[in-house]
Amino acid sequence: VLTSESALPTTLAFRPMVRADLPMFAEWTARPHVAEWWESPGTLAEIEEEYVDSLSGVDSTRCFIVLGDAAPIGFIQVYSAVDGHADGWWLDEHDVGVRGIDQFLAHQSQLNRGLGTRLIRTFVAELFRDPMVTRVQTDPAVENARAIRCYTKAGFVLHREVETTDGRAALMYCERPGL
Ligand SMILES: CC(C)(COP(=O)(O)OP(=O)(O)OC[C@H]1O[C@@H](n2cnc3c(N)ncnc32)[C@H](O)[C@@H]1OP(=O)(O)O)[C@@H](O)C(=O)NCCC(=O)NCCS
Repeated sequence: VLTSESALPTTLAFRPMVRADLPMFAEWTARPHVAEWWESPGTLAEIEEEYVDSLSGVDSTRCFIVLGDAAPIGFIQVYSAVDGHADGWWLDEHDVGVRGIDQFLAHQSQLNRGLGTRLIRTFVAELFRDPMVTRVQTDPAVENARAIRCYTKAGFVLHREVETTDGRAALMYCERPGL
């Protein structure tokens, strides 16, 4: 029997994550293929605490549920690198046009089939619709070869390796087309 999760979706869309999504988000981050690379804040209460400011707009990070043919299939967030300074992130970055993204696919059966590449290409193209955005960055763990390969296919290039609070990461850049 083919489940909806073993087929790949035709269309991708993004809707803002809301508080009611957090139990689903918590369950996703506990799945082994996500937990391997995505440090969950822990319990649902801890996740609510970590994400409340983004969901309410107090901080500028925006969280989205990825929809594949209208069904939730993943998560992606976008932040301003300069806004990360308050928490000690990206202190060398002074360009207010730089955005960063973090993401995962929720269904293990959909990994390694090009969906992540499509997701990132689509989302990055939407970010560049904002003329203020100069560059999009992402920072997979250096050991996350699948993610690095996916981001490379989606147009990102390694800038340099960086030490983050989440460990050693490959800081990758996708410059605004035409710059
Ligand atoms: C990272 C992620 C979004 C990528 O999406 P995806 O749909 O799996 O990626 P794609 O299928 O588009 O591309 C993966 C590529 O990596 C390759 N790959 C897979 N495992 C690999 C490995 N161990 N070493 C090298 N390359 C690998 C695949 O063959 C494919 O490349 P190819 O098309 O040239 O053959 C998804 O795998 C995911 O959510 N992973 C779990 C959580 C995670 O790691 N999130 C990212 C945190 S930075």
